Amino acid sequence: MTEEKNTETKTTGHEWDGISEYNIPAPRWWLIVWIICIIWAFGYWIFYPTWPIFGGNSKGILGWSQQLELQESQAEINARKSFHLEKISKMNLQEIRKDHDLMRFAVNGGRAAFKENCAACHGSGAQGAKNYPNLNDDDWLWGGKLEDIYQTIKYGIRSGHNKARENQMPAFGIDKVLKKDQIEAVAEYVMSLTGKTKQNAEGEKIFKDNCVACHGEQAKGNRNLGAPNLTDAIWLYGGNKEDIRFTVYYARNGVMPYWSGRLDDNTIKQLTLYVHSLGGGE
Ligand code: HEC
Ligand code: HEC
Repeated sequence: MTEEKNTETKTTGHEWDGISEYNIPAPRWWLIVWIICIIWAFGYWIFYPTWPIFGGNSKGILGWSQQLELQESQAEINARKSFHLEKISKMNLQEIRKDHDLMRFAVNGGRAAFKENCAACHGSGAQGAKNYPNLNDDDWLWGGKLEDIYQTIKYGIRSGHNKARENQMPAFGIDKVLKKDQIEAVAEYVMSLTGKTKQNAEGEKIFKDNCVACHGEQAKGNRNLGAPNLTDAIWLYGGNKEDIRFTVYYARNGVMPYWSGRLDDNTIKQLTLYVHSLGGGE
């Protein structure tokens, strides 16, 4: 009862469904902040675009607009970009690589272009997948020097371009060069090179007679021919018996498209520097 009396004196006197409202003045600090805000708003009206008027809005004496700000920052970005792009077009890959600032610009540009054009096959981190080589490691089919990578990207591999990297492993099975059991034996031998099976003399002989021309005496591969190293346990097409038997029987025909004419030379240079920077560059 006493509480009820107490609230009666402090309320506004209105009552809604038994709920009444206190009548207490706003705190002083709040009032001060509020007044400052009002003054601030007047200042804002004067300096910045605010009021809608006929044919647009009040411009404010600073002449600021979001659009202008955007235009300015874009112009700055473009100026910086074209400065770098011009340098890239004039310098060779080695020179760019030594220029720390330019290199950073090129690698960033290359990364973006890679995501757009290459990730579908090589993966967004260039990690590769079965049938598509990993570009982060130092296991190169065709070479990991800047010039090698540049050539690969520009003209492609078995791409149909007249400067493409070409070389074709024979299809030993369908071309009837080797019989099934010989393919079995040489596949065993290839597996023995990474310690998966025991050496076998028959397979070794078949390898010496048929495979070393491209893969080398030691089976370490040949980058001029795009023939992979068979001793490093890194497999483009898989390293189990099935995969190797298939490779030898049918051969493989990895195709990497050419980018000459599809991407400008600046972009190809940036892609080269990006791929080279991934860790396997030589
Ligand atoms: C349609 C799929 C495809 C696309 C897209 C593609 N590649 Fe390739 N790339 C391949 C294949 C397949 C190979 C391996 C070819 C072979 O067997 O020799 C390859 C090989 C390479 C190699 C050589 C690797 C080595 O070990 O020597 C480089 C470098 C490379 N690609 C970079 C790129 C870049 C950069 C792009 C984007 C501009 C790109 N690729 C786009 C399929 C593709
Ligand atoms: C004329 C050159 C040539 C000859 C001869 C040759 N190869 Fe190859 N081999 C290649 C090339 C090029 C590739 C890569 C194909 C590709 O990238 O699409 C390859 C790929 C392979 C692969 C796949 C490696 C991987 O990483 O998946 C195996 C396995 C292989 N060869 C085994 C053999 C065996 C065994 C013989 C002999 C019976 C042989 N090759 C003869 C050129 C040759």
